[in-house]
Amino acid sequence: MKDILQELERRRGDAREGGGARRVEAQHSKGKLTARERIELLLDPGSFEEFDMFVSHRCTDFGMQDSKYSGDGVVTGWGTVNGRLVYVFSQDFTVFGGSLSETHAQKICKIMDMAMQNGAPVIGLNDSGGARIQEGVASLAGYADVFQRNIMASGVVPQISVIMGPCAGGAVYSPAMTDFIFMVKDSSYMFVTGPDVVKTVTNEVVTAEELGGAKTHTTKSSVADAAFENDLEALMEVRRLIDMLPLNNREKPPHRPFFDDPERLDMSLDTLIPENPNMPYDMKELIVKTADEGDFYEIQAEFAKNMITGFIRLEGQTVGVVANQPMVLAGCLDIDSSRKAARFVRFCDAFEIPILTFVDVPGFLPGTGQEFGGVIKHGAKLLFAFGEATVPKVTVITRKAYGGAYDVMSSKHIRGDFNYAWPTAEIAVMGAKGATEILYRSELGDAEKIAARTKDYEDRFANPFVAAERGFIDEVIQPHSTRKRVCRAFASLRNKKQTNPWKKHDNIPL
Ligand code: HXC
Repeated sequence: MKDILQELERRRGDAREGGGARRVEAQHSKGKLTARERIELLLDPGSFEEFDMFVSHRCTDFGMQDSKYSGDGVVTGWGTVNGRLVYVFSQDFTVFGGSLSETHAQKICKIMDMAMQNGAPVIGLNDSGGARIQEGVASLAGYADVFQRNIMASGVVPQISVIMGPCAGGAVYSPAMTDFIFMVKDSSYMFVTGPDVVKTVTNEVVTAEELGGAKTHTTKSSVADAAFENDLEALMEVRRLIDMLPLNNREKPPHRPFFDDPERLDMSLDTLIPENPNMPYDMKELIVKTADEGDFYEIQAEFAKNMITGFIRLEGQTVGVVANQPMVLAGCLDIDSSRKAARFVRFCDAFEIPILTFVDVPGFLPGTGQEFGGVIKHGAKLLFAFGEATVPKVTVITRKAYGGAYDVMSSKHIRGDFNYAWPTAEIAVMGAKGATEILYRSELGDAEKIAARTKDYEDRFANPFVAAERGFIDEVIQPHSTRKRVCRAFASLRNKKQTNPWKKHDNIPL
């Protein structure tokens, strides 16, 4: 009996060594943690339970039968984050470069199936050289099995990918189908074809970092949602995010204790809007001053900064925030900001997270770049996403809400539940100057007349009352009472039930 127990411990010890001390040291020397160290940091202490520790590959080509490692390059299992169940896989770069074999894929699929069955998020810590070259098509099949599960799990349980090393070839497509992608600066990259292939095919010379590093994907491509300084920071941020999210699509987001009075007034908001309507101000100030304890978890902070997306809590309940940012491009909607916000709104709707929208938008960004790039279709994504969403939706217009952008930004007409405006709101087809120049083109030579016309237009339309008179705005509220009003609004909507007509699925303009 004692021998058997010892044998178990020996085997366990063997598996825990991964690819051996030399490779672990190499991993550490790159500033990277090992697969197991990452799991230890991600999960509550002592909560990790491992699956398939003794699984090894079945490949016999290229002498592989003599080279086997327990676990086959991925550590899988489940544990808790602040007491809540999550499933995790963590690729072990010290074993065949974390490359994906048939059995490695089966391990990942097993925990994904468990996660779907038991309604808990899947967190993937990716650090892999891609398909296990020695296994050929068996490894490609393994990838496709994972992809299919990513698709089936989408909208059922939250899926989070952390890229903590190379992620190349088809390997990028599993993370790409998950809800959030985080990267680690300077040690992770993602691309479909690496720098060498790029050089051969297009003659472009580019480094791996330039082609697919964290900066590229958080600022240019928008493939990644955030980048962090090191493994530790990335893992702590995943814990913070998990705390905001429901475990699955049948559950409400977690309700956390809060210490911030829902009735709290903030008098400084009464002067947030500058006297001059063309002056910017920081919309983040409003978000932070509205949130419980000023806590804001921003998503895609470095991309399309004219739109802000992220999570706050109101009375302890998670709320998704979508807001125009007047500091960047005057808060205009454009291709990138529409795509960014549309994806966020759809995530919130899929997981029953209510949506708070702050509006200060002068319209869609004009230009050939936008039109040729398909702003019509991309803008329509956001319109579609807001319009199909059935979660509680509260909207506050702080200043401009012009033209089509007014309609798009969770207006009453696309099923906004509460549509508030500050007294500083201007809800109109366009700004006064532009409107006057079109309506009174023949008077353009006469500056005095045009100024008077502009003033007339402003007096008539540059306010929230025309919309309020029609019931498009439910109430004009004092800026300082914003937190109190939106908290009350969401509280009244806790039992909201709204359904869309039956369909197989919609056809959002992709
Ligand atoms: C098997 C691999 C491997 C792979 C790395 N290794 N990638 N083994 N299959 N795909 C092994 C190496 O042999 C080495 O083994 C160890 O992992 C570490 O690799 P190094 O090259 O020494 O590390 P480093 O210099 O850090 O470079 C890492 C790397 C590089 C950039 C990932 O290894 C690399 O380019 N690998 C190949 C990447 C690739 O082309 N993958 C296939 C993509 S196509 P030892 O024994 O020396 O420790 C693909 C298709 C999927 O994924 C399609 C799905 C639809």
